Amino acid sequence: MNNVFEKYESEVRSYCRTFPKEFVKSKGAIITDVDNNEYIDFFDGAGALNYGHNNDYIKEKLIKYLEDDGIIHSLDMFTTPKREFIEFFEEKVLIPRGLDYKIQFTGPTGTNAVEAALKLARKVKKRENIFALMGCFHGMTLGSLALTSDTDSRKGAGVSLSNVTHIPTPYMFNQLNVIDYLDKILSDDHSGIDKPAAIILETVQAEGGVYVFDNNFLQGIRNICDKYDILMIVDDIQVGCCRTGNFFSFERADIVPDMVTLSKSIGGYGMPMAVTLLKPELDIWKPGEHNGTFRGNQLSMVAAKAGLEFMLNEKVEDQVKEKEAIVKEYLTQNIASKYPECEIRGIGLIWGIDVHEESISRQIVAECFNNGLILERAGRNNSVVKIMPPLTIDKGTLLKGLNILNNAVEKVLTQKAKKITTL
Ligand SMILES: Cc1ncc(COP(=O)(O)O)c(C=O)c1O
Repeated sequence: MNNVFEKYESEVRSYCRTFPKEFVKSKGAIITDVDNNEYIDFFDGAGALNYGHNNDYIKEKLIKYLEDDGIIHSLDMFTTPKREFIEFFEEKVLIPRGLDYKIQFTGPTGTNAVEAALKLARKVKKRENIFALMGCFHGMTLGSLALTSDTDSRKGAGVSLSNVTHIPTPYMFNQLNVIDYLDKILSDDHSGIDKPAAIILETVQAEGGVYVFDNNFLQGIRNICDKYDILMIVDDIQVGCCRTGNFFSFERADIVPDMVTLSKSIGGYGMPMAVTLLKPELDIWKPGEHNGTFRGNQLSMVAAKAGLEFMLNEKVEDQVKEKEAIVKEYLTQNIASKYPECEIRGIGLIWGIDVHEESISRQIVAECFNNGLILERAGRNNSVVKIMPPLTIDKGTLLKGLNILNNAVEKVLTQKAKKITTL
């Protein structure tokens, strides 16, 4: 490995430590390194490449736009790509779903959309506190980091992270009804907890270890928000854009959040873009009150609209439901039923194998990488192997990747069993 990276790139780098190769090309669900080794991608740019690497449909639109000298940078001035994106998103995505949101373009990464949602919620409700769920991930800048629950990320802040109350999740305690708990702490004038401006949550805790919240729980949160005049923010940055089988991950629960954050795959091609969707009555921003130089990069707008067109033309939601069944059956038959120590969780095309041990998940991921499969870990103690392919992956490649994973699990768990018996 060329040591330019080690010599000059900050120690903060992370994914390259798990996948220590130099990558040069990618297509669909395949990434290629400089030595021409191919890897199946079950990581998907952490959810930024739902429509596949270098998607031909989107690429053509981008090339045409560049060849025509389309405007690239324009702050938040009116532009044709922005108008076309807004029109398409409203007419083809929001209105058909009965959703009425205004679109705020924020800085181009997910955390920017979360920061905007927090700021606006506090401004609208004139309250400082926000409720977030234990196990959540919402970003790494100070406001969103105050929500993010993992200790190592929080330690990096260097200042106290405040104005957030963390709420337990249903999967943490068998005996605790979290909705009743919320009802109690919000109605009890001796709970000691300040009423929040908003409750923010992911419908599937992705970085938290692939925990899918059931529809009753999501509806329960909506009801609590209504009862206590609290805004509900769904962070769909990772599991939106069809990842769970519907464009928005909350659709399955038949609820309407007050605000929604989107990033990652909304940029279509892996282009940086983030938006905060807000109910029109919440739009009390003063002009320029939440600004940023790179809001709405025009190439991202072009890619985003093309991505939405592709999503609808290719019926990506249906594709996900079909492939969900394949992955679920495969993991149940080959892993859950064979290895009682492995817990399988997931929905759509986001799945986790919880092996409950950091060293085991690490070895599985390393073994997969050696055999041409890229996937990452998540969750408490990083003990969950996360399966998140591009939604457009063909079934043959999907099964090939699952076979590599299955062999890795078998190898690592057999080695572990052998070690235990020889002790
Ligand atoms: C649910 C969720 N929210 C927010 C973020 C932060 O996005 P970004 O890394 O683009 O700032 C992430 C990133 O993984 C995420 O998964």
